[in-house]
Order: sequence, then structure tokens, then C-alpha cells
Amino acid sequence: MSELLSPLAQLKEFKKTAIVSPLWMIGEVICEMIIPILMGKIVDEGIGNKDMGYIASTGILMLGIALLGLFCGCMGGLTRSKASAGLSRNLRKAMHDNIQTFSFANIDKFSTSGLVTRLTTDVSNIQNAFMMVLSMAVRAPMSMIVAMILAFYLNARIASIYLIAVIILSIIMGTLMITTTRYFKKVFERYDQLNESVQENVSAIRVVKAYVREDYENNKFKKAAGNIYEMFLKAEMRLACIGPVMTTTINVCILLISWIGAHMIVSGSLTTGQLMSLLAYCMNILMSLMMVSMIFVMLTMSEASVRRIAEVINEKSLLTNPENPVMDVKDGAIEFKNVDFAYKKEAKEPVLKNINLSIKSGESVGIIGATGSAKSSLVNLISRLYDVTSGSVTVGGVDVRDYDIETLRNQVSVVLQKNELFSGTILDNLRWGDPNATQEECIRACQMACADEFIERMPERYNTHIEQGGSNVSGGQKQRICIARALLKKPKILILDDSTSAVDTATDAKIRKAFNDEIPNTTKLIIAQRISSVENCDRIIIMDNGQINDFGTPNELLERNEIYREIYESQTGSSADADFDEKN
Ligand SMILES: Nc1ncnc2c1ncn2[C@@H]1O[C@H](COP(=O)(O)OP(=O)(O)OP(=O)(O)O)[C@@H](O)[C@H]1O
Ligand SMILES: [Mg+2]
Repeated sequence: MSELLSPLAQLKEFKKTAIVSPLWMIGEVICEMIIPILMGKIVDEGIGNKDMGYIASTGILMLGIALLGLFCGCMGGLTRSKASAGLSRNLRKAMHDNIQTFSFANIDKFSTSGLVTRLTTDVSNIQNAFMMVLSMAVRAPMSMIVAMILAFYLNARIASIYLIAVIILSIIMGTLMITTTRYFKKVFERYDQLNESVQENVSAIRVVKAYVREDYENNKFKKAAGNIYEMFLKAEMRLACIGPVMTTTINVCILLISWIGAHMIVSGSLTTGQLMSLLAYCMNILMSLMMVSMIFVMLTMSEASVRRIAEVINEKSLLTNPENPVMDVKDGAIEFKNVDFAYKKEAKEPVLKNINLSIKSGESVGIIGATGSAKSSLVNLISRLYDVTSGSVTVGGVDVRDYDIETLRNQVSVVLQKNELFSGTILDNLRWGDPNATQEECIRACQMACADEFIERMPERYNTHIEQGGSNVSGGQKQRICIARALLKKPKILILDDSTSAVDTATDAKIRKAFNDEIPNTTKLIIAQRISSVENCDRIIIMDNGQINDFGTPNELLERNEIYREIYESQTGSSADADFDEKN
């Protein structure tokens, strides 16, 4: 329960507005309630005694109260809009801020489409529900109770008709609402399916087209949309019954009140004015009852959204800064001591098993191995993208968990296997590496990454606009910009995870030569599928099924390691077409 209330804590600076809003509504209700009494008095005393003065003064009073009610209503509307829009802004900000602290392991838990839905649709649901609660949750019950008290005060016999009507209506509406909310809940579960289908399809539209999967995708979407249609229809059909049930009840009540009231007027126990007031209260009470039932629907509809938002806000980052973090990375030496690593705690087999490794500062180390042999997993531990399950990883002689995360990540620059560029100019993208880098420094980094040659040929050169996800540059160009971006950090350790796979062999060689000449003191870890990308490294790690199969200089490996020799021979053309994967 407290988890469900946690999104409300995000009201913060809007708390006062949210409390004041129902008070304005109470003001409006009181004004609304006084008017029927005054109306009754005009009829009984003004018209009955033909007293124009009384009619005029009471009329003016009624106008004043109506205007006051209008003012209260407007203020109520304004404050509730402000509070609900503010809540939605704060919720989005809180979620966004927390997502930024997520470790890779946290991100693995939520799907991207799930996070987007939570940030958009779910927040909108809460905003609407909160607005409704602010406007009606106090107003409707209050108006019902006050009208009921006044009705009993005017005439207890007639007022008891209301009480019976309210009881009967509550039973009918309650039953309708229970089934309706059940369907609405199902609708929201199915929204997730729909969003997943849309997001997957839109973000991978090129792949869909390349594989001519439009029909399949259309069917998938049609099914998801059809499911929602069916559930909505069932829910709305039940909601649609509420209107006629209400109208019938109101009409029956009016009929009864008029019948009994007419008899009472004739017998002199009720005045015409009182009857008019009673009829107005009848409408008031039954309408309020309808509002209460709508609040009930709205709250159940938003419950799922509240739960989903609370999950994101309350998710604790699995990576935290230590209490007294080390703020300086001495050098680029790396050591793995008895490291085991699994992505999930409950996994039976760890992805990395008993890794012991020592890399000197400034060394260049190649990493090769079959796909899925855990090369990326190994290097991701160095900049703490994930934390080890057991054992330890040290950089510059200090456990990576003892560093300030920002310091560590600035010194350990990773070009991830799945890299991204962001919308903005090439310079904007490069400056992710170093926001204060001068244009000359950016150009220098691009020269090292062999990116300058194609950037210079672009119409606006370094100011060329990159589309979202880097869709207007080729795979190899994107990789080279990403390498330049990583170089701008001037790191002590540079990790390239298959970062030149789309770059031609000659350019790949040029990039490696530039690294050796220009950043000789930086430790370089190069994951590659091509032997040529790693054969000039000081040493090479051969990964095999989550373990280090061998670690040595290229010459040593050529002599003693069968896997390396086979790959070497296959890729340099001196053997049949052996491949990493064939070893598995
Ligand atoms: N985020 C993740 N969550 C769960 N398991 C994962 C995750 N990433 C990778 N794995 C698993 O860990 C194992 C090692 O994956 P890893 O990406 O480290 O291999 P790799 O050697 O880099 O492969 P490739 O050459 O294809 O890049 C694989 O079996 C993979 O299924
Ligand atoms: Mg990989």
C-alpha cells in the first residue's frame, strides 16, 4: 500500500495547491446548496405575498451567491489543473532522474518500450485520475450529505424517498462498477502488448521491410488492437447502462416526490417553494452518487499505472558510489582476481568463470573468442557497467568498486559493441567525450580514429547534423565517430568492443597505428573477430565459453594454442576456412 502511495510524494511544491483545491470545491457546493433554499423562499414568501421588494432582494442575494459559487468553481478548477499537471511533471522528472542512475543490470529488468509507456501513458492516466479525485472526491460526497441533511430538514417524509433511491442505486451501480473495472484492468494489461508491438515495429521498421514482414507485423498489431477493442467494448457497454439507470431513477423519484408533495401541499403540510427545493436536492443527490461511482472507476483504472510508476521510482540502483570514493586513477593497470560473474543472481551457470588476469599499464591487449564466449561481459566489468558476482577487478591497483563512478568511467573509456550516436551535429556528439574540447582537439581525435577523411567530405563538415540513432551515417562511419568520441576523454584505459568490425582492413590498421603512435601510455583492450585487428597487440586473450583459454604474445599463441593457430591460418589464407564458432 505504501508503495502505491509513493507517487503521491512527488506532489512536493504542489501539495498546498492540492489541499486548497477541494476547499474551493466545498465553497462551490455550499453556494450551490443555498440557492434552492432561496428559490423556495422567493416562491413561498415573495410570490405568495406578492412582495416585489423581497423577490428583488432575494434575487440579488441569489445572484451574489451564484457568482461566489462561480468564483470558487473557477479557483477549484485552476488549482486542480495546476496540482495535477505539477504532479505529472514531478513524476516524469523523478522517473527520468532515477532511470539515469540505473546500472546496466537495472536497465535489463525493464524493457525500453515499458519505460517509455510508463513515462508517457501511465503518467497521463495518473494526471487525469488525480484531477478527477481533486474535483469530485470531496465535492460529490459533501454535496450528497449536505443535500440530504437539508432535504430531511425541509421534509423528512419526502427525503426518505431519496434515501431509498440512493440505496437501490448504490447496489445497481456497485455491481456494474465491479464488472466494469475488471474489464478496464484487462485493457491496461493489453496496452503493454500493443505498445510493445508498436515500438518494436517502428524502431525496427527497416528490418521489417528488409524481411518483408509487414503482413506479419500488421496481423500482430491487428490482434493487439482487436484485443483492446473487445475489452473496451465490454467495459463501456456496462458504463453506458449507468446513464439510463440514473435517468429512470431520477424520473421515478421526481414522480413520487411530486405525487406525495402535491398531496402534502393540498393538506397544507408543505409549501410549493419547499417542494421546488426538494426537487433540486433530488437531482443533486443522485448526480453526486454518479460522480462517486465514476471516481471509483477512475481510481481502479489508474491503479495499474500507479503500480508501474512506483516500480520505476522505487527501483534502487544496483551501482552505488562508495562512502569515501577514490577520486584519482593512478594508471591503466588492470587485474582480475578469481572473478565469477552472472547477469542474474538466480542463474545456474556464471557467464564468466574463475578469471585471473593481469594487464600492465600501457599494454595493448587483443581479445578474441567465439560469439557468446563472454568477451563483452569481461570488459564491461572494468568500467563497472556491471559488478562482479565474486572476486574483484582492480584498475591502477584499486578495486573498481572503491572509485567514484564518474572518475572511473572518465578514465576507462569504452566504445560499446552496440553504440549509439545522438541527434545533433558531429561536434555535439564528439563533445560527449569531453564537453570542453576545442574544435582542434575534436579534429585531432577524428584524425586518430580515421573519421576526419569522411567528415571533411560532408557538406557541413563537423557541423553536419546527425539524425537520431546516427541513421544518416554508415555503420563504419558511425564506429569511427564513436572511437573519436571515446578518445576525447583522454582515458588511461581504452576499450574497443568490436568497434572496427564495419571498418575496412586498411583503415583498421591505420587506426591501430595511430593509437600506438599517439597514445602509447593508454592501456588498450581491443575485442575483434579479425586476427589482423589484434595480431600487433602486445598480448592476446583467447576467450572460450566464459573462461580464459590462453593469454600470451601473438608469437607464443601461434606456437602453442590450437584455437589461435586455426583462426590465424584460416584468416591469413593458409588453411581451410576454420572459424571460431566451429570450435563450439
Ligand atoms: N544483458 C544480458 N543479460 C543476460 N545475459 C546476457 C546479457 N548479455 C549477454 N548475456 C549472455 O552472456 C553470454 C556472453 O555474452 P557476451 O555478450 O559477453 O559475449 P561476446 O563474447 O561479447 O559475444 P559477441 O562476440 O557476439 O559480442 C551470452 O551467453 C549471453 O547470452
Ligand atoms: Mg560482445
